[in-house]
Amino acid sequence: MVNDKEVDRGKRRFLLAATTAMGGVAAVGVAIPFVASMWPSARAKAAGAPVVVDVSKVEPGMQITVPWRGKPVWFLHRTPEMLSTLQLHNGRLRDPDSNDPQQPPYCKNPTRSIKPEYMVVVGICTHLGCVPSFVPQINPPGVPHPWEGGYHCPCHGSLYDLAARVFKDVPAPLNMVVPPHKYLSDKVIKVGEDA
Ligand code: FES
Repeated sequence: MVNDKEVDRGKRRFLLAATTAMGGVAAVGVAIPFVASMWPSARAKAAGAPVVVDVSKVEPGMQITVPWRGKPVWFLHRTPEMLSTLQLHNGRLRDPDSNDPQQPPYCKNPTRSIKPEYMVVVGICTHLGCVPSFVPQINPPGVPHPWEGGYHCPCHGSLYDLAARVFKDVPAPLNMVVPPHKYLSDKVIKVGEDA
């Protein structure tokens, strides 16, 4: 017999998977032209110029990647449901309160962000520098359960949550880095410069 809780979890999985799949299609359509238009000149890139990113077209549950200083920077639009999972697994994280200086002081908070709905993070594993995979589904195959969504590093198996905080008992020693950034308007973020 299937109880309400199981039905809810099933629905939640389906909705997240659907959102992610649809979001992935939309991201290809909107992110590439946008990123191209925001691309700094080669000289500016060499100097590590800030990048300006409009996240208004990033649907809830979606993530886009924009290069900054030769590194991938992720912009994840977290849903209220994603945000509600962040406190569920604090006991399984290595640094749940972000005490290591892996973020600017204004992001030392439970969501590691300026606005809870947008996570901005350098998408590089703190073990040996691979790029982790985005795994937003609930309890999918291939990651240890329980899994409320996060990132899985394919190189040596490190795991991070949806605030890029690292789990215990994996090779990576630290949470992923939150770069300096600020909002130029409600949905426009400048990475590489802060207040
Ligand atoms: S580089 Fe990510 S786990 Fe080793």
